[in-house]
Amino acid sequence: MSTARLEEVRRAFVAELEQAGTSADGVEKVRVKFAGQRSGKLKELAEALRALPNDQKRDYGRALNELKQEIESRLAEAKQAAVTEIRVKDPGTANAKGHAPTVAVGRPVDVTLPGLPVARGAEHPVHIVRRRIEEIFLRMGYDVEAGPEVEDDWHNFEALNIPPDHPARDDQDTFYLADGHLLRTHTSPVQARVMESRQPPIRIVVPGRVFRRDSDLRHSPMFHQIEGLLVDEGITFGHLKATLEAFLHELFSDRVAVRLRPGYFPFTEPSAEVDISCIFCAQKGCGVCSGSGWIEILGSGMVDPRVFEAVGIDAGRYTGFAFGLGLDRVAMLVYGIPDLRQLFAGDQRLTRQFA
Ligand code: DAH
Repeated sequence: MSTARLEEVRRAFVAELEQAGTSADGVEKVRVKFAGQRSGKLKELAEALRALPNDQKRDYGRALNELKQEIESRLAEAKQAAVTEIRVKDPGTANAKGHAPTVAVGRPVDVTLPGLPVARGAEHPVHIVRRRIEEIFLRMGYDVEAGPEVEDDWHNFEALNIPPDHPARDDQDTFYLADGHLLRTHTSPVQARVMESRQPPIRIVVPGRVFRRDSDLRHSPMFHQIEGLLVDEGITFGHLKATLEAFLHELFSDRVAVRLRPGYFPFTEPSAEVDISCIFCAQKGCGVCSGSGWIEILGSGMVDPRVFEAVGIDAGRYTGFAFGLGLDRVAMLVYGIPDLRQLFAGDQRLTRQFA
């Protein structure tokens, strides 16, 4: 055993530590092999000291000491730099925004670093309103239904007692598709679809997107409605009024007054427009209610017997009521949003306020 052997061990140590790089596991293996208490190379070299002739002990001892110090300090350094390593094999798919995965294949990951911040979304105000209204009607025993946004003329118009030459078609500037289908102009066609497919008792609400060729401060080519329909034996206008009052009190406040005015819809007879007392000025008159003290909130009425006839429900046995309201309008009212189009601009400065 000689100082040459020490140099040999030193070189092996340096090479192996180099190879371990920043792998914590690798560095630990090198430590055990060279500086391990029980069977490390250093221990072996120290035991060899005793067997040396006396005149070599001093040089060997000094060199061994230096080697020991070097190994210990290099190990300490390597340990500092080492990370717990995860080799990422699968880069995964890009996230929803199309951003590339944040970790490159095969790159070591320092799992002790703080993670990327989690981006928290917010519920859209229209969705909040929709959910609240659904909850109110679910508690009253209604089901939530849906229907297609691309509709046919029958369900959007004809079955609802709006024949081709009916002036009500002019109110609803319709987007027509080349094949004769159309984008539904209201959620009412789902009434017809549900009544065609099942017999009373029927109690449904239908939220959804609707489309009209219209765009200004208060109109957007796409907006949201929720439709309600109840059909059973013995349903009267009294049920309609009580249901809508209960609904509007729950949605806005017990303190709002509810007013029914005569209205006209082809699919209901009689029909009523429903107002609530202005929630902004306590009916003193303000910009929101145009000085009237009332805010028009929904359309409603008793299902016209001609609609029952069209969808195959016995109008002699059953009666029912229906109503429809704009979700966007309610969201604008409740949250004081002045321009309808802001709801659909996708600007996070708006939606963040609802987080
Ligand atoms: N469909 C009507 C509209 O878009 C709203 C409506 C009024 C729906 C009266 C109804 C109803 O079910 O009974 O303006």
